[in-house]
Amino acid sequence: MKLLEQTPDAVSQKIQNVLTPEEEEFIRVSTDLDSDGNFGEQWVVVTDKRVIVAPVEGVDGVVDVPIRELAAVQTEPLVGGGRLEIERKNQATLFVPYSSSLAEKFSEVARGLEQLRQQDEFFIKTELDQTRCSKCGRLLPEKNGICTACIRRLATLGRIASYLKPYKWRAILMALVSLVTISSELAPPQVSRYIVDNVFLPPDETAGTVAQRATILGWCILGLIGLRVLRWGMELVHGWIVSWLSARVTADIRSHLYRRLEMLSIQFYDQRRVGALMSRVTRDSDMLREFLVDGLPYLVINTLMIVGILCVQFSMHWQLTLCMLIPVPLVIIWGRIFWRRMRRIFNKHGQGWAHLSARLNEALAGIHVVKAFAQEDREIKEFEKKNTDLMRISKRTARHWLVFFAVMSFLTGCGGVIIWLAGGLEVLGGNLTLGTLTAFSSYMWLIYGPLEWLGRVNSWMTRAFAGAERIFEVIDAAPEAYNDPEATSLTEMKGQVAFKDVTFGYDKSKPVLHEVALNVPPGEMIGLVGKSGVGKTTTVNLIARFYDVDRGAIEIDGVDVRNIRLEDLRSQIGIVLQEPFLFSGTIAENIGYGSPGATLEEVMEAAQAANAHNFIVAKADGYDTNVGERGNNLSGGEKQRISIARAILHDPRILILDEATSSVDVETEKEIQEAVARLIKNRTTFAIAHRLSTLRNADRLVVLDGGRIVEIGTHSELMDRKGVFYDLVELQQQTSEIIGIRE
Ligand SMILES: Nc1ncnc2c1ncn2[C@@H]1O[C@H](COP(=O)(O)OP(=O)(O)OP(=O)(O)O)[C@@H](O)[C@H]1O
Ligand SMILES: [Mg+2]
Repeated sequence: MKLLEQTPDAVSQKIQNVLTPEEEEFIRVSTDLDSDGNFGEQWVVVTDKRVIVAPVEGVDGVVDVPIRELAAVQTEPLVGGGRLEIERKNQATLFVPYSSSLAEKFSEVARGLEQLRQQDEFFIKTELDQTRCSKCGRLLPEKNGICTACIRRLATLGRIASYLKPYKWRAILMALVSLVTISSELAPPQVSRYIVDNVFLPPDETAGTVAQRATILGWCILGLIGLRVLRWGMELVHGWIVSWLSARVTADIRSHLYRRLEMLSIQFYDQRRVGALMSRVTRDSDMLREFLVDGLPYLVINTLMIVGILCVQFSMHWQLTLCMLIPVPLVIIWGRIFWRRMRRIFNKHGQGWAHLSARLNEALAGIHVVKAFAQEDREIKEFEKKNTDLMRISKRTARHWLVFFAVMSFLTGCGGVIIWLAGGLEVLGGNLTLGTLTAFSSYMWLIYGPLEWLGRVNSWMTRAFAGAERIFEVIDAAPEAYNDPEATSLTEMKGQVAFKDVTFGYDKSKPVLHEVALNVPPGEMIGLVGKSGVGKTTTVNLIARFYDVDRGAIEIDGVDVRNIRLEDLRSQIGIVLQEPFLFSGTIAENIGYGSPGATLEEVMEAAQAANAHNFIVAKADGYDTNVGERGNNLSGGEKQRISIARAILHDPRILILDEATSSVDVETEKEIQEAVARLIKNRTTFAIAHRLSTLRNADRLVVLDGGRIVEIGTHSELMDRKGVFYDLVELQQQTSEIIGIRE
């Protein structure tokens, strides 16, 4: 957990002069302002013994403060930035200014220094949010987002195209068809040239009589019709292949993406909004489709077309071809200017969409809360705001298009004028036949089309590439290690669980659990007790390896969970989550969720064990009752019992019950407890409950406080000890008496 940036040589030298060989460096970071607050750079180095502040310029100026000399370290926000304030015991406070883009980094530095000063600990977050591109330094469109300026276009194109690989024969056929299409496109001007030069304006009398020439004209016209028909046919075949391919390929991309999403860790989801991820599956993959359907095939055709036409034209009259190309640099320059601006707008467009769908997802998922607090108007306003933003961007995009096309058609129009002027003079001078000039003019219109289009394909490419990069980001994110070949297989788990000095925090700089040590033999039931937010759920999350520990280890049957095959681990752990979640479908389907292939008898047995059978059969449709989206058609207690049944049916070696009985009445809870008592035989069980009486069955109770284990023992041992647990029980009893409940 170190934050070490690359230092320039001059600075390394200065730092090395101060440090002693055995010192351990924790932090080495740069500022973007000098000590006077002007643009410049200073370096802050933190070791286990001291802090050093070193400017880049100048020989001296290195300030060296021993850790024990520190009085306090904090950051102070200022306009457009902030400063690190290093208060010293015997000297004036040191101020290290930085701009706002580095605020997060320096708040970690301050936190690290405070930890070192107060205790000998050191935890800081080293994976800071990136606001700037690490390559070009530009501001990123979103935190940790993708820098569109640095998209490796060719590589991305290659990756997109690699989705075509399984269908390569069709792709090759498509390319062949394109070639024929292009040839059939290039031929007609040659025919018309022949007609003008040899039929209408024959050079001499040897060309034949009018009747003979009319026959030739007839043949030429037949040829033209033949070419047209060929082209139509090819277009049909081409369209057919493209639609087949693009549907397949986008379906492939979507399922690839979704398979990845399912395999990503919970940590990945903690950091992202579900709606924004959904827009990657729906919108971004659609953008790829647009690119593959409208972009890639035409890109190939049009490029070949341009090359083909230029070759023909150069062979006909190279000087005139050069004249025709005069506006092309202008077209290209204009295209570049335009696309640079469009890229930014497209980016905003993408973000606008992501924000809108994230908001939509959250608001609809939380519709009960919205209604309960009568906040419909506020949600509508929020949505309107995002929608208006999106509308503005769309409007801007459309206006830019308008200007773009106007300028483009003006430039290409200029090309036409130049051809008629230069070509006309050549015809008058007798250096060029009229047929060649008309052919030239036809080619010119043929070439400007693809040229203009090439400008447009850039937009598709930019947009599709940004979408592709967002998709590839998910695909490239490290999945959970389901296929780790090194992992130990543990198909017959005994259920011994050991916490070995486990330290863990969702945010690495703020540990939730500190050095938790606990040894649970197979079959024992542990009750986890503690105040809300103390880390009970976190503790059990670590057993199922939803998160990896930061320090220490969790071992099951003596094997570190990080080395156990994930499938073996999770298939032998049954969890009843604190917030039960059911999928829409029937009750039977939900109970059988973790055990595909379970018979209805087995499902019913599990439901009986979880004390759910009675309420299920009381429903009109019994086990076929539809639970509604997220199980919303059931009561909280019913949902809980179904999720207990689901865990029971899974027949786990390790059972985790997180507040499994919090939403049921005392009576039902007693019944469930009896069921659980039967159930926990031969299984290692971790039960969390706020109602402490629930945990009477537990072999041992583990009391957490401040992220540490403060007491371990049986119910009576802990009561005798009159410690934290005793206080909790006392408090709960007093409260129960006040509201008149006796348990
Ligand atoms: N996904 C998360 N990301 C960041 N912080 C989290 C996350 N989940 C929990 N926390 C924080 O970790 C701490 C411990 O949470 P935990 O859910 O383990 O508490 P708990 O003991 O189960 O509380 P409760 O009894 O209320 O369920 C809390 O301060 C909480 O805010
Ligand atoms: Mg909890």
